[in-house]
Amino acid sequence: MHLDGGRRRGFFLTLEGPEGSGKSTQAQRLAARLTASGLPCLVTREPGGTALGEAVRQILLHAPDLSPVPAADALLFNAARAQLAAEVIEPALERGEVVICDRFGDSTLAYQGFGAGQPLEALRSLARFAVGDLRPDLTMLIDLPVEDGLRRKQADEITRFEERTDVEFHRRVRDGFLALAASEPDRFVIVDGRQSVDAVEEAIFEALRPRLDAGLQVSASTSAGPPDASPLHSSEPERSSLRMER
Ligand code: TYD
Repeated sequence: MHLDGGRRRGFFLTLEGPEGSGKSTQAQRLAARLTASGLPCLVTREPGGTALGEAVRQILLHAPDLSPVPAADALLFNAARAQLAAEVIEPALERGEVVICDRFGDSTLAYQGFGAGQPLEALRSLARFAVGDLRPDLTMLIDLPVEDGLRRKQADEITRFEERTDVEFHRRVRDGFLALAASEPDRFVIVDGRQSVDAVEEAIFEALRPRLDAGLQVSASTSAGPPDASPLHSSEPERSSLRMER
């Protein structure tokens, strides 16, 4: 949670998962639902989300001839992340918005760490250097078997990571995500990505709702500011529209 002088700022939600878990679709669906409930939302993605980030994305995902080594990958993902945090995520949280980010730091731990064998502690230090103490308030891990996810990927979505790495790599990535979730059960929610798109959407919304409701209650009891100082402490009509969807 992002506190500013004791008052809540926005809410930072990340979506993570192995290949083909449908995160991007879910990010859009969730944003539409939250916006309809009166909560201002911003959807962004990694790598990307800024002009610099999109340029780095081209290098990382679509220029296989450059052959970055795993340490270079880690540095480039974090360069894009630093820019995204400073240019997009922090300002949106300061405005009090819900930020939905399609992949974030856990992807580097899963792919470059568990997948490619870079030391986790070094990757964690790098992330601290890149984004300081910015951490997701909640991370939805959309989990599914590696074979199912890779099968779902369309030919036009194939990046260097699907092209150049074997199924074993993706198994380590998936297991890595599950290990990260087990080590931080308060931050992670695991959603079964084998379900239909509608069912995954519902599972994400149901898991998120108590956090938003908790945010509303905490805000109500601790906020020094006006009652509508944060979108998570929405005005009454917005609160009821969020709740009406139950
Ligand atoms: P993308 O096409 O956005 O895939 P997806 O829809 O699965 O998110 O490509 C992102 C790729 O980059 C994906 O294979 C995961 C990889 N990646 C890393 O290896 N490390 C990272 O830190 C991030 C953010 C992504």
